[in-house]
Order: sequence, then C-alpha cells, then structure tokens
Amino acid sequence: MAETNWTKTRNPTFDKEGALRMDRIAKTAFKPIYPVIAQNAVHVTGKSKGRCLDMGTGPGMLALAMAKAAPGMAVTAFDFSDDALKIARTNIREAGLEQQVTTTAGDVHAMPFETGEFDLIVSRGSMFFWKDLKQAFAEILRVLSPGGRTYIGGGFGSLDLKRHVIKEMAKIDPSWDCYAKKKSGDDGMKRFEKMFDELNCSSYQIIDDDTGFWIVLSAPA
Ligand SMILES: C[S@@+](CC[C@H](N)C(=O)[O-])C[C@H]1O[C@@H](n2cnc3c(N)ncnc32)[C@H](O)[C@@H]1O
Repeated sequence: MAETNWTKTRNPTFDKEGALRMDRIAKTAFKPIYPVIAQNAVHVTGKSKGRCLDMGTGPGMLALAMAKAAPGMAVTAFDFSDDALKIARTNIREAGLEQQVTTTAGDVHAMPFETGEFDLIVSRGSMFFWKDLKQAFAEILRVLSPGGRTYIGGGFGSLDLKRHVIKEMAKIDPSWDCYAKKKSGDDGMKRFEKMFDELNCSSYQIIDDDTGFWIVLSAPA
C-alpha cells in the first residue's frame, strides 16, 4: 500500500538481524551521509560544546560523526536495542572514540537521564518508529538543557547524497522503502505544530528540504 505521508509512524521489529542489517547499510550505502548530517546539525543549531545525545543511534554512526564534527562535545549514543548498542560499542572502539562517545540503553519515551542534561539532541531515522511522539518529545524537552537545541528527523543530508543512497540501496535491496521519496505534506506539518503547541514549546523550526525532515527545537535559555 502506498504511504503518502512519510512522517507517519511505521512499526518494524528491531531484532538482532535488523541491527546487523542497519550496521551493514550504515557502512555502505549510507556511509557518506553521517558526516554531512552531523555538520548540518552543528551549523543549524550552533551547538558544538557540552553534551550531545543521539537518540535511536543504531550502529552509532551519527554519534561518531557528531564526535568528529564537534570535538568539544561528549556524546551519548542511546537506543532501546541491546543488539544495536553492542554493535555501536564495537564501532566506537574501532573508531578510537571511547573517551568521547559512550552508550546508554533505554526507551525514548522514558529516558534514564536527569532534567536538562543535554545541550544538543540529534536523531536520524528513528523518530518515525516511536510509538507516542508526544510523550517522546515531552521527554526530549525535559532532558534538554536551558538554551539547548535539537536536530531530530530523517534524511540523507543533501540532494546528491539522497540520490546516491537511492541508487546504492536499489542495488542492495530493491524492496527498500525510501521514505525520503515521499512528501511530508501539510498534515504532517500541522500534526507537529499542534503537538508542540500542546507541549508549550513555542520556539521551533521544521526543516523539510533536500537535507531531510528535521525538527529544531530551542529550549528557553
Ligand atoms: C532505522 S534505525 C536508525 C539508526 C541510526 N540512527 C542511523 O541513522 O544509522 C532506528 C533505530 O531507532 C531505535 N529505536 C526505535 N524506537 C526506539 C525507542 N522507542 N527508543 C529507543 N530507540 C529506538 C532502533 O532500535 C534502531 O536502532
């Protein structure tokens, strides 16, 4: 069935096989996107110091790219899948970034963090699977520091990279369902606007362009 709105939540299983598959894709077709997304996150939010959280980190590639793009940041790679975190820890060790990037297990809907811990919260390709977006964003706003910002969503960083990924994924897995081919649409936008209104979050920007679909929230300073 054709999905017309790619901001709609989907419901896959995140088992060991899925975690290994994401690791393979992250090291092949998706490999060039993470440094660009990390640079975009730093550029758009203006955050490169303090603590960074990567939600739904999977194999940890965005967390590692954040550590390289912002050497002054301590990065927490967060996921509810132990299989994904095991893979992420191996990737962090192989990158030699164990001092800067650590892992924490948990669910985005009830995060094991103190209020106001993170200056920058990033996430790529995970939000579309969260069961209760409003609860997840309430948690995000809770753990965001005063003046903290987010770069949460999905996409490939640029139009060229999106084309590259679609071409490479067609070779690897012709059945791959690329949400970036779809439009977010007005309904998706309105849904987020209504949600942020209900969460009393008045300072936000929704980016929907060639870099992807990204939610930039700003916590009051
Ligand atoms: C498609 S993968 C994306 C991985 C990584 N961000 C990337 O772009 O390479 C989605 C990840 O989100 C995680 N995830 C989904 N729902 C979650 C939740 N409620 N809490 C924590 N992690 C979640 C999954 O375990 C999976 O590793």
